[in-house]
Amino acid sequence: MFRTIDDVRTQLTTQQYIASDTIATTLFLASKLEKPILAEGPAGTGKTELAKACAGALDRELIRLQCYEGIDEARALYEWEYAKQLLYTQLLRERVGDIVSGAQTLAGAADAIAKEENVFFSDRFLLARPLLKAITSPKPVVLLIDEIDRADAEFEAFLLELLSDFQVSIPELGTIKAVHRPIVILTSNDTRELSEALKRRCLFLYVGYPDAEAELAVVNLKVPGVPPKLATQVVEMVQRLRQLDLRKIPSMSETIDWAKALVELNVRHLDRSNIDTTLNVLLKYESDIQKARRIMEREGDQESRGARDEDRSRGGGDDRRDRRDRDRDRRR
Ligand SMILES: Nc1ncnc2c1ncn2[C@@H]1O[C@H](COP(=O)(O)OP(=O)(O)OP(=O)(O)O)[C@@H](O)[C@H]1O
Ligand SMILES: [Mg+2]
Repeated sequence: MFRTIDDVRTQLTTQQYIASDTIATTLFLASKLEKPILAEGPAGTGKTELAKACAGALDRELIRLQCYEGIDEARALYEWEYAKQLLYTQLLRERVGDIVSGAQTLAGAADAIAKEENVFFSDRFLLARPLLKAITSPKPVVLLIDEIDRADAEFEAFLLELLSDFQVSIPELGTIKAVHRPIVILTSNDTRELSEALKRRCLFLYVGYPDAEAELAVVNLKVPGVPPKLATQVVEMVQRLRQLDLRKIPSMSETIDWAKALVELNVRHLDRSNIDTTLNVLLKYESDIQKARRIMEREGDQESRGARDEDRSRGGGDDRRDRRDRDRDRRR
C-alpha cells in the first residue's frame, strides 16, 4: 500500500504516470479511507491511465468494467450459465428421473426438483463479471469502472451498494462481501450529471489538462528518443493551442501522438512546414486546423515584421532569433 503522498507520486512515475499534487493526494486518501475515486474531466487527460498506473504501482490486477448505454447487472456483476445448467440437466437426466419418480403429482415432482435447485444455482454455474470478480478475488485488486456517465442512471443506482459497503446481493446466493476492498476508480467525461448519491460515496477528482511542466515530463517519458528541443516546442505549441476556441482541444494523448509522429519523421525542431503537414495528428477537425494555421501565419508575419523593424532600428546587426525568443516569452 502507499505510505505517503510522495510515495504515491514516485510509484506512479515508475509506471510512467506523472501525477499532480491533487492526483497523488487523492489516490493516497482513497487508499487510506477505502473510498472510491470519481475521476472526471475532458477526454485524453489520463483518467483511465491513472487506474492502470495505480494497479501497476501496487502490483495488483486491474479489473476493468467498460460502461455503455444499456449495461446491466448481467454484464457487470454476474450471470447464470444457462447453457451449462442445461447441459448438466441433460447429462443427469436419469438422476433427475430418480428424484421425481416417487412423486404422485406434478406439484410433488416440482417440489422434489426444487429441493435440488441449490445445485444449479451455485458457484459452479455462476459466471462472474468484473464487479463480482473484483470483490471475490483472493488478492486485492484495482477496479476501474470506466466512463460511468455512459451507463444509465439505474445502473448508477445499482452500483451504490458496492461503492459504499463493498458488497453485492445475489438473490439466489445472498449477500457477498468483499474478500479485500479493492481500490475503485470511476471515470466520467461529464457527458451527463451523475447522481448526488454516487458523488457522496466517492472522492471527487477533476483531471484537467496538464501544465507545461507536467506535459513535458510526460512527453519525455512516453516518447522515446524525442530531442529535448522538440519536446519543449511541442509542449509550448500545444499549450498555446489550448488557449484557442477550438472544437476539440488537444489533450495529453494527442500531444504524445504528435511528438511520436514528429520523431518518426526525424524532425528535430518545429518549423512552419513540418507543423503544417502534421497538425492533423494533433487536431481532429478541419476547422480547428485552419484556425491554428491562420494564427501561425499571423504570428509568423508579425515576427518577421518585428525582426525587420528591429534590424532597421539597430542597423540590421541584431540576431533575429533573440527577438523571436523574447516575443515568445512575452506571449507566455
Ligand atoms: N499524467 C499522465 N502521465 C502519463 N501519461 C499520461 C498522463 N495523462 C495522460 N497520459 C497519456 O495520455 C493518454 C490518454 O490517457 P487516458 O486514456 O487515461 O485518458 P482518459 O482521460 O481516460 O480519456 P477518455 O476520457 O477519452 O477515456 C494515455 O496514453 C496516457 O498514457
Ligand atoms: Mg478513459
